[in-house]
Amino acid sequence: MSVKILAIESSCDETSASVLVDGKILSNYIANQTIHEQYGGVVPELASRAHQENIVPVVDYALKQAGIRKEELDAIAFTQAPGLIGALLVGSCFAKSLALALNKPLIAVHHMQAHVLANFIEDPIPSFPFLCLTVSGGHTQIVRVDSPLQMKVIGETLDDAAGEAFDKSAKLLGLPYPGGPLIDKYAKQGDPEKFKFPEPQIPELNFSFSGLKTSILYFLQEKQKLDPDFVQHHMADICASIQHRIVSILMNKLKKASKETGIKQIGIAGGVSANSGLRTALQSYGEKYGWKTYIPKFEYCTDNAAMIAITAYYKYQAKEFVGLDAVPGARAAF
Ligand code: KG4
Ligand code: ZN
Repeated sequence: MSVKILAIESSCDETSASVLVDGKILSNYIANQTIHEQYGGVVPELASRAHQENIVPVVDYALKQAGIRKEELDAIAFTQAPGLIGALLVGSCFAKSLALALNKPLIAVHHMQAHVLANFIEDPIPSFPFLCLTVSGGHTQIVRVDSPLQMKVIGETLDDAAGEAFDKSAKLLGLPYPGGPLIDKYAKQGDPEKFKFPEPQIPELNFSFSGLKTSILYFLQEKQKLDPDFVQHHMADICASIQHRIVSILMNKLKKASKETGIKQIGIAGGVSANSGLRTALQSYGEKYGWKTYIPKFEYCTDNAAMIAITAYYKYQAKEFVGLDAVPGARAAF
């Protein structure tokens, strides 16, 4: 039997809709909200308003691109949590209204679970058990995945997320938001060993990035006393050194997780998995330690509805539907 699902993602500053047919993504349309750049971070109220403006055209476009009429759909999926509550409300209300109007089942998806399952959108897909390092602007988690719908967080950040570490470091360097991709860009021309930033000693499989931010701040203050244009003169080397440290913190914990669990199927997910330093490091650790590694296609790394659609496909098969009373949540464990 053919299964056609429309999925909607609206947890932060991307309005996205995707159509999946029989496990294959036919469309994944993403509208970025550029309005936040001028404020140096996402402004929740502006995000909600932009979602409201974008949601109808984005859904229409995704259906059109897939060549599917909404009457043909078998289920409507939406991101339920975690995220900005006002932003989540726009997507969830839209999905509920459509499900009610079309009399179709509704599927609620956990955003972080969906980031992990982005690794299952295209072949080759991991086998189980699988370890996923999910690194985004709001989260840093090591997840043990035993089946598509059975996963457990075995390590996470105690303070800032890896994406935040990139963005806050970039801000200290005077770069615009979101600074992660810019650090990546400058780092390509720099020497990663030029400046040494400390690696925190955090127990178990957890992470901490707030100390790194402070050490970068003190480092810059010290250097700028001697050369006020220190950042401009050394941008590439500073970016390469910061990226090198963030990546080494992430990879050392992933190595520990693999050793402790014995799992060698290892992937990354979330916006920071677009980082070229992290991608290269995953590949070289893979070669060194005999891991089979997975990295989703770029458009499935940052926030997108295709990852919501693939998660919904597994939930559809497990008949995990929700009623119209399902409420979105800013925070939620899975
Ligand atoms: O998953 P995502 O799109 O949204 C959240 O759910 O947070 O992740 C966004 C984060 C931002 O912090 C952004 O700076 C970071 O991913 N990011 C990167 C790169 N591309 C996106 N960080 C480092 N290098 C990149 N190339
Ligand atoms: Zn995300």
